[in-house]
Amino acid sequence: MANTAHAHAAAAQGETRRDFLLHSTIAVGAVGGAMMVWPLIHSMNPAADTLSLSTTEFSVAGIAEGSGITVVWRGKPVFVRHRTAAEIETAKKDDTADLRDPQTDAVRAQKPDFLILVGICTHLGCIPLGMKATEPRGDFGGWFCPCHGSHYDTSGRIRRGPAPANLEVPPYTFLSDTTVRIG
Ligand code: FES
Repeated sequence: MANTAHAHAAAAQGETRRDFLLHSTIAVGAVGGAMMVWPLIHSMNPAADTLSLSTTEFSVAGIAEGSGITVVWRGKPVFVRHRTAAEIETAKKDDTADLRDPQTDAVRAQKPDFLILVGICTHLGCIPLGMKATEPRGDFGGWFCPCHGSHYDTSGRIRRGPAPANLEVPPYTFLSDTTVRIG
């Protein structure tokens, strides 16, 4: 029984990772000008392989409000969402909610418009859904991990389900108004 459950979880995780690759490809194709992301990453990391493994640079200029892109940092998916005013307002309002992993939105987003998160569920490592408008975003409007039903809010905080912690905020710096370096 345990083996079956484990196999199921592994299959679900594998499915989700494949989905991530597929979704990443779609996202890069769908966001206007997003094909610029990859050339930008490579051109801005002239120290090549070593640096590109530890840092990722990209532009948020082409991300429409309400949508997002997924970039890769150290082999991990990183969600970059351009939040709407309503999403930001909800996130700030819920600073005082009963949070499992209490953090204010201000701590999690250097610029409220752009939320940057490692896109790996803190339960068992699936890739949550919600980067595409057609995907479920859970009961709190952020992300939903279908593997075991974890719901994250518009600040990426865990609000329901088995995940123990918020989606991780990676170390990042705004090099300009639109250029971000992760790592
Ligand atoms: S991996 Fe279990 S809920 Fe996300």
